[in-house]
Amino acid sequence: MRFPPVVAFGTLAYLVPSTYAWGAAGHEIVATIAQMYVHPRALETMCDILDLPSNNCYLARVATWADQQRMRMRWSGPLHYVGALDDHPSDTCAFPGSRGWAGNRGINVLDGVKNTTSLLQDWVNHESSDDVASEALKFLIHFVGDMHQPLHLTGRDRGGNSVKVLFDRRHTNLHSLWDSLLIAKAVRTVPRNYSQPLPYPRIEAALRGTIYDSYVRRIMWEGVLNSWDDDLEEWLSCPVPDVPTTSPGGLLGMWNMAYSTTTKLVQAFLRDGVEISPDGPILCPYHWSQPNHQLNCEIIWPKELDEPPFNVRFDSSDEEELAHGHDDDLEDPEPMLGELPLLQLDTPQYSGVIARRMILEKLLAQGGIRLAGILNYIFADEDEFERGQRGAFLTKLDD
Ligand SMILES: *[C@@H]1O[C@H](CO)[C@@H](O)[C@H](O)[C@H]1NC(C)=O
Ligand SMILES: *[C@@H]1O[C@H](CO)[C@@H](O)[C@H](O)[C@H]1NC(C)=O
Repeated sequence: MRFPPVVAFGTLAYLVPSTYAWGAAGHEIVATIAQMYVHPRALETMCDILDLPSNNCYLARVATWADQQRMRMRWSGPLHYVGALDDHPSDTCAFPGSRGWAGNRGINVLDGVKNTTSLLQDWVNHESSDDVASEALKFLIHFVGDMHQPLHLTGRDRGGNSVKVLFDRRHTNLHSLWDSLLIAKAVRTVPRNYSQPLPYPRIEAALRGTIYDSYVRRIMWEGVLNSWDDDLEEWLSCPVPDVPTTSPGGLLGMWNMAYSTTTKLVQAFLRDGVEISPDGPILCPYHWSQPNHQLNCEIIWPKELDEPPFNVRFDSSDEEELAHGHDDDLEDPEPMLGELPLLQLDTPQYSGVIARRMILEKLLAQGGIRLAGILNYIFADEDEFERGQRGAFLTKLDD
């Protein structure tokens, strides 16, 4: 649906929403980028599953469904994130450390991606119902987004939800800053030339006339089609297990490998519903998240937060934090010491560096590319892609 300009302007408000994961825009951008790379027949199948009319079938439309269900399906809350017990950015980034993961075994975003993928494979094999598939697909589209928000990969201070900071004149917290405010600022400051369509019909076909269309064009033009063009293979690859092969693992390389062997390995792995590591050879959410988790120590969690005067705050004990998880609907613990100074993060040293290095844009692009790869792996036939071509499991943008 193309929004008339007035409505599109009104949607600005929802770019700066409450405390929901990756905001609405982040999730929708990931789904929009994925849509550019999914195979047309895979898309058709998904439109059927989601009951979306084919002339208005955008994966972005269901990208925030899982957040809207969080109250109704309370069990699903911990599936939106993962946290290691020893993790304490910015000084220690353990993923996980010696004490393993927090929470119940197998109930986290990395396993959520595997679980929903497996449920959808069951549907393809006529082993699960349309209702299960519809729910699993909506969760999968959402979880791949969450997995690319680095603060969803740490348990410290409820993923930064309890860390109050300033952004420009806004009082916010570190988690919301990364869910919404940085994206909102990036959307506001996109150069004007991106309001023109790009010469790629597949990109334009995935855009819906939203306020962030220009931003998506910029991510594609400057990032995916330019600086990161050579990285897409790596984004889709997984460490190759002990299967004799000379080609890379992952969504990129699987058709270079013995197809049946790999498929068996993956399914055995998924069906057991086991630990996060080791990953499967094709689907490896743990491997994919590792470098993004390290960003928490590198740049996302400011060191100043653990130095005076910003280190003075009400700290719940580790155990209490972990019990609370990232539940955004809980009240933030109130500081006991009156007005505390808040760290300003709309600065050249913080938001400036993040913008210059296109960190946010790269995370959104990675989420989109990997989501497309997973969806094609589930729904497209092997012979719909050229065997062994670069970027296998992705349709080419210039087709
Ligand atoms: C996987 O999904 C099924 C069905 O929704 C659910 O019962 C199960 O608890 C899930 N497992 C994990 C590890 O999320
Ligand atoms: C838009 O302008 C920027 C410079 O501000 C330039 O780098 C970029 O290539 C332009 N994009 C398009 C699509 O022409």
